[in-house]
Amino acid sequence: MDKLVITGGGALRGSLHVGGSKNTALPLMAAAVLADGTTKIHNIPVLKDVATFSNVIRVTGCKVTWEPDDDPDTPETITIDASGIHHFEAPYDLVKQMRASFYMLGALLGRGGKAKVSLPGGCAWGPRPVDLHIKGMEALGATVTEEGGYVIAEAPDGRLPGGRMRFEPVSVGATINVLLAAVTASGESVLENCAAEPDVVVFGQMLQAMGAQIDGLGTDTITVQGVDKLNPVEFTNCPDRIELGTYMIAAALATPPGATFRITGAEPEHLGPAFTDAFRQTGAPFRFVDGDGDWSTVEVEGVETIQPVSIETAPFPGFATDLQAQWTVLMTQADGPSTVRDTIYTDRFKHIPELRRLGADLKVEGDTVHVAGNTRTLSGAVVMSTDLRASVSLVLAGMMASGETDVLRIYHLDRGYERLEGKLQRAGIDVVRKEYDEAHAEGVAA
Ligand code: EPU
Repeated sequence: MDKLVITGGGALRGSLHVGGSKNTALPLMAAAVLADGTTKIHNIPVLKDVATFSNVIRVTGCKVTWEPDDDPDTPETITIDASGIHHFEAPYDLVKQMRASFYMLGALLGRGGKAKVSLPGGCAWGPRPVDLHIKGMEALGATVTEEGGYVIAEAPDGRLPGGRMRFEPVSVGATINVLLAAVTASGESVLENCAAEPDVVVFGQMLQAMGAQIDGLGTDTITVQGVDKLNPVEFTNCPDRIELGTYMIAAALATPPGATFRITGAEPEHLGPAFTDAFRQTGAPFRFVDGDGDWSTVEVEGVETIQPVSIETAPFPGFATDLQAQWTVLMTQADGPSTVRDTIYTDRFKHIPELRRLGADLKVEGDTVHVAGNTRTLSGAVVMSTDLRASVSLVLAGMMASGETDVLRIYHLDRGYERLEGKLQRAGIDVVRKEYDEAHAEGVAA
């Protein structure tokens, strides 16, 4: 297995480039399944989750061409030829590796009026149900049964009629899945309390480019007039907003006071006002400037003192739950106490015991982490990755710790952070990937 070994105390210098968005790439790939032809999607990040979803799509008989090269400076393109689709199933051994595989429920129903998709099972920090995805398909007119761990859905006479669905709570995944099924229905669908995350909006824009009739993207009510068929397109994925937020936090933590660190290839609008407001209150100056090509550059200036800022996660435009673990690390270095509350995943705190191993003064109470702040003295230790965002928070903490931090089980990081150690190395951080033997590693409980 691989680990990252970080020698703390290094400064971030120069710049870092943000890759394509993981959480947008996956629904874009699912959308490609709806068209009878070859779709090309540019700016696809080189990540394990993209490879996994490619395999999920291949099972159906679609051809997926995905050959990322080793050059970190060239964005990658994926090609999906969905003309040969014939097997309307997503099997357990793939779905269990990645929950987003459940998007095949909507994609297969939308394309062929039938789907057999494995239930995803639990996840590292909670049950993460899919009840709204299933209710949504039923609301559009599908007959849904569960058998042997699979959801089997069928449209009457091979095509969904469409219908009305209200999501409660707001769900990114369910909004995307139900849209995938609604765009080719024979009638109108009205979806209420929809997610407004940029991932949903950009995905909806690709569906529109394919010929879908969708109104209200980015608002809480989306109306869809079903169309007979969708066309293959060429589309460019947006930059990863969570990667951008993570590197802005890294920059506030590790840029020498007065120096400027640059994050290129970014779409700052996608951070949302809650994050940028909170970041501004930390006292770390930042600005958005024009970059090369379509995207912007974010410049962050290092400061002597980070002000404590309490945050609460919420659906977009609220503070993203995918940035709360990283924010917690930033707050350990702030000049006073703060709280980090997650209202979306109320127990997404697996990183807290690991951060405490590094010396962070943190206490969890219900859905809230109390951060003491003023912990300038994190010290290196062996820590364990438990999920994607928890893992990157450990890397950030390792950058601030004295001595060496070993972050074990970084396959979680490889799912969602493109070439992380290469990017950090080039920006001056002492971080290396090493193989280790899990059975004999320090800090690994049986
Ligand atoms: N929920 C239900 N029923 C459902 C679906 C969701 O009750 O059928 C609840 C969840 O339990 C949660 C809330 O709705 O309390 C919101 O969950 P959502 O469905 O929005 O999450 P998701 O679609 O499963 C995506 C991202 C996550 C991100 C969340 C929230 C992808 C592939 N995943 O998950 O990203 O945390 O939205 O923004 O897009 C990550 O990238 O690390 C990650 C976990």
